[in-house]
Formats: sequence, structure tokens, C-alpha cells
Amino acid sequence: MKKRSIFYALLLVVVVACGAVLFNLNPNDKPYTIKNGMIHFEAPERAPGQTSMLGFAAEPIQTLRVGFIGLGMRGPSAVKRFSLIDGVEIKALCDLYPENVEKCQKILADRGVAAADEYSGEEGWKQLCEREDIDLVYIVTPWEWHVPMAVYAMEQGKHAAVEVPAAMTVEDCWLLVDTSERTRKHCMMLENCVYDHFELTTLNMAQQGLLGEVIHGEGGYIHGLERFWHQYQGNWRLIYNQKYRGDVYATHGLGPICFAMDIHRGDKMEYLVSMDTDSWIGKELAEKSLGTTEFANGDHTSTLIRTHKGKTIELQHNVYTPRPYNRLYQLTGTKGFVNKYPVEGILLSQESVQNSGVADHEDLSAHKFLPKEIFEEVVEKYRHPIQKELMEYAKKVGGHGGMDFIMDYRLVYCLRNGLPLDQDVYDAAEWSCIGELSRASIENNSMPVAFPDFTRGEWDKIKGYRFAQ
Ligand SMILES: NC(=O)c1ccc[n+]([C@@H]2O[C@H](COP(=O)([O-])OP(=O)(O)OC[C@H]3O[C@@H](n4cnc5c(N)ncnc54)[C@H](O)[C@@H]3O)[C@@H](O)[C@H]2O)c1
Repeated sequence: MKKRSIFYALLLVVVVACGAVLFNLNPNDKPYTIKNGMIHFEAPERAPGQTSMLGFAAEPIQTLRVGFIGLGMRGPSAVKRFSLIDGVEIKALCDLYPENVEKCQKILADRGVAAADEYSGEEGWKQLCEREDIDLVYIVTPWEWHVPMAVYAMEQGKHAAVEVPAAMTVEDCWLLVDTSERTRKHCMMLENCVYDHFELTTLNMAQQGLLGEVIHGEGGYIHGLERFWHQYQGNWRLIYNQKYRGDVYATHGLGPICFAMDIHRGDKMEYLVSMDTDSWIGKELAEKSLGTTEFANGDHTSTLIRTHKGKTIELQHNVYTPRPYNRLYQLTGTKGFVNKYPVEGILLSQESVQNSGVADHEDLSAHKFLPKEIFEEVVEKYRHPIQKELMEYAKKVGGHGGMDFIMDYRLVYCLRNGLPLDQDVYDAAEWSCIGELSRASIENNSMPVAFPDFTRGEWDKIKGYRFAQ
């Protein structure tokens, strides 16, 4: 009898183990497995008939018809910006609450633009996506709504533009990639920080070789949100951070570095390790407004990434402690260095100074930033072409110093001219997956986590990042 029980017990173990191998069942119910000390997330095969969106350009759209979903703190400024761009028709506005839609109608009326159709309530966004007369759905809702809305929009034949981060899990990043590849619709994350003036200028400098090889980048989101927490609809942001560890808002810091390092245009992020502090401020916030002292997100989270070519990126996330606003933004190159916060500075090697064509009328050794007047000369000379065209107008429109307007303008310009968008769906996935990857690392004592290759092996096909013109 005893022998028989042992036999059945062993049989059960064998069956479960075979099942796990055959059906990729994960005994700890995590979406990843650990191999040779590295965490690997599951990566789905590309479905038959589905093809890459690298370099994808849709047919030009002469008049771009847009619908907006999510009109809280951020959404209305997007409505205003679009009302200022030629070749755009704002067809529909949607929010859970009709009063938020009304506020945006007023923005349109003040601009002398025709009123848009209105949607509200739980299902309004679906009706907006189902309309025949919309080309682009612009999504500015809480994080957990981004993917369902973007996917539904693409399924309904619309291009999707979605706020940051585009997705909060690796599985959802794949869902965006697969839906975009299958429907042949763009899915662009609205990462505005790649369009900030210093980032664009220094990207141009990097692309012209002034920094040599960009071997290390630092980026982050350090922004005490104490004035804002209670303003998010239904407290969604605090509730999310209360549940999850990790760098949940990495894209502002990471995006500009990925462009300068040609990520998935010749290099790729290979693995990361993350570490966080305990939560002090988060716990206080949770106690005050959520009635719990449990708070998962560390007050300060740090992540280190290594690329295939042997470069490194450091990211920081801190939305809790009192500090000056800071996205870090540093590029370390073999021939130069640029730094954005707290003061913008550029340092160039003697060779790069000579190559820059800017007068070398001081001793510009590679140990200090360029003096103010030469800094200004370099900045003026290396302004990115897309900035030159739009800078003055963008600054007048406002929105984070003009970068929001440049972003929207570029999105409209590329769609109207049938060009590839500045940020493709792989950027959206790569920059957004940091949230779950960093969490997995932290929850496993900072174990390295492999990046999924969302391009499925095509990360080296395009040589160097360029804005389409
Ligand atoms: N790129 C940037 O610089 C930047 C800055 C701020 C916010 N954001 C992003 O913008 C998004 C919105 O942030 P926010 O600060 O405006 O938040 P918010 O809470 O002020 O606004 C969200 C809005 O979405 C609406 N909404 C929620 N669920 C909805 C649904 N099912 N259907 C229709 N409407 C729905 C809410 O009613 C609310 O008005 C977030 O993804 C955030 O990360 C980006």
C-alpha cells in the first residue's frame, strides 16, 4: 500500500513537471522563469501573417480626424494644442464625466473651432473608437486604461496615440506590439521629453559625432507629486504605486537616451538590475488617503541597464521626497558630455571643439563645461532642424516649455505626410516594460532581468535613429 502511494506521488510529480515544460506552466505563477541567474519573461511567437512595424508608414491622411479620451489634468492641454495645428479636425471628446468634456468644448469654442461630439460614462470610449470618421484616437487616461483603449482603437481601424507609460506589464507591451503588427495601425506612445529643446539639440550633436560614442546615459523622474496626488481621478496613481514596486514611470528619463543610443536601431537593451529604498513618504500618503500603512513602491528606485554593445543606462524614480524637479538627462560620450539638470552644460574634447566649427577662443580643456557664450554658440549651431522650425511658436503655445506642442505637431505632420512616426510601437514597449522588469528584479534581490526583444530579432535592421522628414 505504502509502495503504491509513493508510486502515485512520484507519478504526480512527473506529470506536473512534464506539464510545466510542455505547456510552459510557471509553478510560481509568475510571467517569467529564472535561467542561469537571470529572469526571462515569456515572449510570444509572432503570429502567422503578422509582420514587423519597423519603418512602417501609413497612407497619408490629408485632414487628420481625431478623438480624445481622458480629459482630466493632462487631456485638455492636448485638445488645445491640436486645435492650433493645421489639417486637424477634432471630431470627438470623451471622459467618464460629462463636465470634463464640457470644459474642453469651451477650449474649442474659445479657439473658434467647431464643437466636437461628446461621449461620457463607462462605455463612451468604445463608442468613440467605433466611429467611422476618426483616424487617430488620442488616449490620456489612467495607466491601466491605456492598453485596452489603444488595442480597441487599433482593432477599430484607428491609429492610437497613448500617454506614458503605454503599458504597465510585459504581457501588455506584447499586446500593443502584436495588435499594431496585425492591424497595420500605428501605436505611438506620447513621450514628450524626447522633444525638449536641450534633448533635441544634444541628440543632433550626438548624431553628428560630437560626443563620440555615447557609452553611458542617465535619466530619471524625480518629481515630488505632493501637490497632485489627490487630484488624480479616483486616486488612481497613488493606488497603483501602493500596489507595485519598481520604476513605474521610466519613459521620460529613458526615451531621450534610447534615441541617442540608437536602441533597436543598431543596439538593444539586454538586461537590467533594480534596487529600491523602503517606503517612508508613500506609507504616510497611504495612511492618510487609503487607510493602510502598506505601500509597495519604494521612495527612491534605481535601475541599471546594460546594452548589447556594452553601454550602460542609469534610471531613477522618486515621486515622493522633496527634491527639485529632475530628469537627470546626461550623456557620457567618448568625446563629450552633456548634462541637463540642475544646469545645462556641455563639455567637449579638444578634438570635438575643433570639429564643431565653433570658435575656440578659450582654453577648452575636457575638464570643465564650455563657458556660457560658447555653450550658447554650440546650442545655436546644433539646434535640431525640427526644433528650428517650431521653437518660437511652441514656446508661445507652452506645455512643458514647448515640447508637448512639438510632439503633437510631429505626430500630425508624419500622419498627414505618410511618414513613419518618430516613436514606433517597439519604443513604446521597450520604454514601458521597465515597470514590470524593475519590479521583478527588486522582488528577487536585484537579480538581472533580460529585456524582451519586441522587434523579434530585427533590432539591428535600421542603422541609427532619425526623425523622418
Ligand atoms: N507626458 C507627460 O508629461 C504627462 C504629464 C501628466 C500626465 N501624463 C499621463 O497622462 C495620463 C492622464 O494623467 P492625468 O494627470 O491627466 O490624470 P487625471 O486623473 O487627471 O485624468 C484622467 C482622466 O481620464 C478619465 N477617465 C478615466 N477612466 C476613463 C474611462 N474609462 N473612459 C473615459 N475617461 C476616463 C478621468 O475621468 C480623468 O478625467 C496618465 O497616463 C499620465 O501618466 C503624462
